[in-house]
Amino acid sequence: MAELAVDLMEVFAPYEAQARVLAARQRYLLFLGGIAAGKTSCGAMWALAKALGEAETDGLVVGRTERNDAIGLLWARIRALLTKLSDQTGVNWIRKWDAQNNRLTLLNGSTISFRAYSQPDKLLGHEYAWAWIDELSAAGESVDPLYVLDLIDGRLRGVAGKNKQILISMTARGLDPVAARFQDAQRRQDPRHFVVKATSYSNPYTPREDLEAWVASMSARRVKQEIYCVLLRPQTAVWPEFDPRVHCIDVKRAEFKTWHHVCGLDWGATRGSVALEVRVHPQTRQWVVVDELIPRPEDYKDGVVNRQRFRDALKAWWSEKNRGYPEIIVSDRAIVSENMWLRNLAAKHSPSTSVRTLVTREEQARFNGTEAIRDLLDPAVGDRPRLLFSSSLDRNAVGASDGGTPGVVSSMTNLSWATDKLGRPMNYVPDMQVWRDSTDALRYAVVGCRNVRHLWSVLPRWVGVGELESEAA
Ligand SMILES: Nc1ncnc2c1ncn2[C@@H]1O[C@H](COP(=O)(O)OP(=O)(O)OP(=O)(O)O)[C@@H](O)[C@H]1O
Ligand SMILES: [Mg+2]
Repeated sequence: MAELAVDLMEVFAPYEAQARVLAARQRYLLFLGGIAAGKTSCGAMWALAKALGEAETDGLVVGRTERNDAIGLLWARIRALLTKLSDQTGVNWIRKWDAQNNRLTLLNGSTISFRAYSQPDKLLGHEYAWAWIDELSAAGESVDPLYVLDLIDGRLRGVAGKNKQILISMTARGLDPVAARFQDAQRRQDPRHFVVKATSYSNPYTPREDLEAWVASMSARRVKQEIYCVLLRPQTAVWPEFDPRVHCIDVKRAEFKTWHHVCGLDWGATRGSVALEVRVHPQTRQWVVVDELIPRPEDYKDGVVNRQRFRDALKAWWSEKNRGYPEIIVSDRAIVSENMWLRNLAAKHSPSTSVRTLVTREEQARFNGTEAIRDLLDPAVGDRPRLLFSSSLDRNAVGASDGGTPGVVSSMTNLSWATDKLGRPMNYVPDMQVWRDSTDALRYAVVGCRNVRHLWSVLPRWVGVGELESEAA
């Protein structure tokens, strides 16, 4: 059996926070790091140190998806370390790579299996001596990270192994249940849990210019969370940053008539139809929501709003001489026939108008659009919001109490996360919330235009949840 005759730490060269993770002996380890803090590098070192340190054991490496994360990223990092090791020791430690089963066998008889937590079923059936999970906080809406953690923890029972451990390396985003579990454990002074934190600035290998460019596109909250790695208290309000005293301004049509014109549009059935007129200042590139079209039952004699009536209302709205057709219209893609109608209408009246829908899961994920809006409301750099609202918009939540569709300003204030039995916010917005529709229309506009350069002073930085469940689907 091959023995390791080098000082692994000398070859791996972890920086200080990473070294603390590698030295930890607790059962549950959490490396909580900012963006590019060296989380994945650290996990790769840790996993390889486990496999090389204990011969004939089976280890598990888990990413979000199998192909892109577990293989494309995590196996690639471990392979790079093995190359470094063989360069320095002259020994090739890889005995076998089994591409069928995504399993690595090392010279000392240890194996490492690479799996995806988006396919939890594939984690069953085997037992392991240790496990590393990368970016468990990026699970998305359909995977419960605590379920994944407990499932993997269950895989560590039974088998031999001197020092069974699970390492989770991640950036805690929003309302993160895994980070909360470790916090609880720390409060109880539970000796089996251990947390190492590192900000993005802790990693001496990340260029400062990169960090500064990211900060320039992020909200103050996101910088605290994703760069400085602060665990923020979960908020029930989706946008606690929104403040009508700050974000509502007086603007006149005569002023913004020549600005860029974008429309966010949410198709409803009998209620929940919203179109927003957004104007973008050609120099400052500030976004201002200047008007909203929300047909209400009381506008019609028979008290009925339907799709046909919303179409008619839209047509009349864009035909107004002072308004005209938008440059870009973005709507949800689910309503195919209405979007067809929209394309035909634009083709006829305003051929230069681009009609878009949110296509990828990445674009559709509420989480991404929500953070993109936050980045605009409260940029970490500069003293001015990048998204404003006209003070002429209704603030009184008309229609909210009778299940109607309130306007965008009151919806920005009132939209809130669902809460559990104990009143703790969870990571989704309930379907029936009347505050969804107007804010969805805004989200579509922001997300659908995120790559249109002339609409932004700082191009939005896409939040890193990747293509949700792209492989599981
Ligand atoms: N100990 C180290 N020695 C040399 N380079 C390192 C070390 N740790 C991290 N790096 C480098 O720093 C960069 C960021 O590291 P890594 O990808 O591990 O961070 P991360 O926190 O996983 O990032 P992300 O937030 O993108 O997931 C990479 O280029 C990596 O090679
Ligand atoms: Mg990483």
